[in-house]
Amino acid sequence: MDKPELNTTVQAMMQAGKGLLAMDESNPTCNKRFAKLGIPQTVEARRAWRELILTVDGLGEFISGAILYDETIRQSKNDGTSFLKLLTDAGIVPGIKVDTGAKDLAGHPGEKVTEGLDGLRERLSEYRQMGARFAKWRAVITIGEGIPSHGCVEANAHALARYAALCQEAGLVPVVEPEVLMDGDHTLEQCARVTEETLHTVFSQLHRQRVLLEGMILKPNMVLPGRDCPTQVSVEEVADTTVNCLLRAVPAAVPGIAFLSGGQSAELASARLNAMNFRWRSKMPWVLTFSFSRAIQQSALDIWKGQENNLAAAQKALYHRARCNSMARLGEYSPNMENS
Ligand code: 13P
Repeated sequence: MDKPELNTTVQAMMQAGKGLLAMDESNPTCNKRFAKLGIPQTVEARRAWRELILTVDGLGEFISGAILYDETIRQSKNDGTSFLKLLTDAGIVPGIKVDTGAKDLAGHPGEKVTEGLDGLRERLSEYRQMGARFAKWRAVITIGEGIPSHGCVEANAHALARYAALCQEAGLVPVVEPEVLMDGDHTLEQCARVTEETLHTVFSQLHRQRVLLEGMILKPNMVLPGRDCPTQVSVEEVADTTVNCLLRAVPAAVPGIAFLSGGQSAELASARLNAMNFRWRSKMPWVLTFSFSRAIQQSALDIWKGQENNLAAAQKALYHRARCNSMARLGEYSPNMENS
């Protein structure tokens, strides 16, 4: 394992005032979002959308790393410039999603396990040769009647740790993403309990598999009440509950934590990240930033709708969200920025 190299990549990804852009939707997920807006679900439309994102002027001011998908990492701008070159020219570290998706976990109705370990060493080596310097693997944990089970949390934590060890062997920084879903009517407290338990299990497995904590990034959910929970809570309560949960479960050796947005509104995702940094800055041992997909892309996608003449307005919306989140990473975001 090349520790100095992993450290260099982590430092580049966790630069002050910047965060990660997740643009690694699998083809089925990307197509689903396109279908809702009447955008054709084709290779070319997906390429054009990713080109729109990567050609936002000044994106590198706010984004330090971008997570690509297998189809996207091989694509280019219409003038032939590869997406990988666009990223490196903008000072953005290229990353790649390497899991092959969450599948039903046998014997565990309603629960999933993420697949993709078979052949992973070879795939990582190819991505690294192409220019990727970090990777992502997402596990999903569902809260519901009698779930999550220990079997599900342990199976997912084990897979995350095996993936992370293989990444570090290949010289790629693993982004370790155990996502406790917002779906359901569970309370904030239930989400806090499940998130803390999941993180303890993940870090125990990372230790077992000899993963270098200094050479990884954690990508967790924020601690939130379920989407259908009648009791929703303030921005400050989410911030305090989330940071307390992380302080209990994430070792100080981990250099950075980059949240997923998970279906929150873009404005709330920014406000909550901001509150965590504003209220807890001096008490946190790690950098706290974003690795959003929907909370950066969705407003721009809604404007674009696959139409060339909406391109400039969509790019402006994406730039705005990246900027808001950059300010939230510093604890300097204000909802007033949404009107400017
Ligand atoms: P969202 O921010 O839309 O939750 O996506 C983040 C991500 O990368 C999920 O794996």
